[in-house]
Amino acid sequence: MRRKFVAGNWKMNLNVAKARALAEGLQAKIAPGVPVDLAVFPPFTMLSAVGEALKGSAIKLGAQNCYFEAEGAFTGEVAPGMLVDVGCELVLIGHSERRHILGETNAMLKKKIVAALAAGLKVIYCVGEKLDEREAGRTEAVLHQQIHEVLGPDISLSSVVIAYEPVWAIGTGKTATPDQAQEAHAYIRREIGTLYNGKAAETLRIQYGGSVKASNARELMSQPDVDGALVGGASLKVEEFVGIIEGAAAAR
Ligand code: PGA
Repeated sequence: MRRKFVAGNWKMNLNVAKARALAEGLQAKIAPGVPVDLAVFPPFTMLSAVGEALKGSAIKLGAQNCYFEAEGAFTGEVAPGMLVDVGCELVLIGHSERRHILGETNAMLKKKIVAALAAGLKVIYCVGEKLDEREAGRTEAVLHQQIHEVLGPDISLSSVVIAYEPVWAIGTGKTATPDQAQEAHAYIRREIGTLYNGKAAETLRIQYGGSVKASNARELMSQPDVDGALVGGASLKVEEFVGIIEGAAAAR
């Protein structure tokens, strides 16, 4: 059985004081020993403060992005090793906002994953189709490209989680139906089986992301190939995020 993994992507929100308060609020409300892996991804400027606030808790710290070089003249970028230095254990790579607003390509994302893993970080690699791609029946073709152009035998999957996030469901309140999520997750798992092997496919965790809320979390995560959630908006509210974690714990 794959253990469920719920992560909160705080995106470009909050400030140090609010981020610390959110981290403390989560710690106070999450039931000790809940059988779900947990992580939050604050903006860079809040990582240290949130890391301090989460000391001793089961919630792991992650960053929303990193660069693929270890150091040097790359103004404005942050190296994977710098994230480790401030206490990060994870990093998000390939979020759709970075692909579509910041123009990150599959080639860049591959280099980022290699660099992050080499620094000892775990990676959540995000994939997902846009609305026009889904409507044109190209969902699997897009996922195929995002998987095959980025992953492969040169990248060990033991520290990688995939997040399936249909772009049309992110921040829109339009969640994929449990069937739509399951269908995409099963496709991703099949492709991982082809690219790696059956064992890699079986152990890989695939999170769903896109308007996950306390009210839909349990049903989504009860799908056989949905192993958790990557949560944006609802991860900024203690009650909602805790409700999603409870949904994950109750999912069957
Ligand atoms: P959302 O964002 O939950 O606000 O839709 C999800 C994400 O972008 O990771």
